Amino acid sequence: MAVPRGMFIALEGIDGSGTSTQTRLLAARLRAQGLRVLETCEPSRGPIGRMIRERLSTRSAPIEPAALALLFAADRLEHVAREIEPALADGVIVISDRYVLSSLVYQSLECDGPWVAEINRHARWPDLCVLVSLPFQAAVSRVAARQGEKERFDAPELQRRLAAGYQRALEAQRPGPIAAVDGSLSVEAVTDAIASLCADAGLTPR
Ligand code: TYD
Repeated sequence: MAVPRGMFIALEGIDGSGTSTQTRLLAARLRAQGLRVLETCEPSRGPIGRMIRERLSTRSAPIEPAALALLFAADRLEHVAREIEPALADGVIVISDRYVLSSLVYQSLECDGPWVAEINRHARWPDLCVLVSLPFQAAVSRVAARQGEKERFDAPELQRRLAAGYQRALEAQRPGPIAAVDGSLSVEAVTDAIASLCADAGLTPR
């Protein structure tokens, strides 16, 4: 009997919007419904993803933006080929904390947008792309309250431009369908909203 294909869900948003928390909570919720779930992220946990995280730290020397864009695209192709596609083929639900829309929004700040799209041409659009939308001021306060090391994209002015970039993609519904949830709701309400989008996409009963 053919195994039904899984579903590929990507959560997107500016730093501090809650994509990591929501990835974890959505995965737990779907597992509780008896579904098999792979929780993953970009930059990935593979060698290229680890290299990217090292270079994103504000302690390391700045990296040339076009080189960084190529690393993100390379990491993504590896991630899709080695983890995401095999899991989907096995009927597993894949939830990725960030995916290709991150590159289109973040890397287009410093690189030519059509070129960023071109180098990501082989990264298929997810079945469900969810933008966790949050005013950038709220996201910046959340990030400021966090312990730990700062990353290169944490600066408030950058976050404002990134929020605008996500908003433009949402309004244009490009390069693929994008659904949005209000990230300023309670953590649980945001998970409810994302789970409801999954149900609308045919994943689970409401
Ligand atoms: P993030 O998942 O937010 O890291 P952390 O869990 O440590 O907060 O991702 C790290 C940074 O990388 C974040 O600022 C967004 C950025 N990024 C890009 O610029 N392009 C990309 O394609 C991806 C996936 C992430």
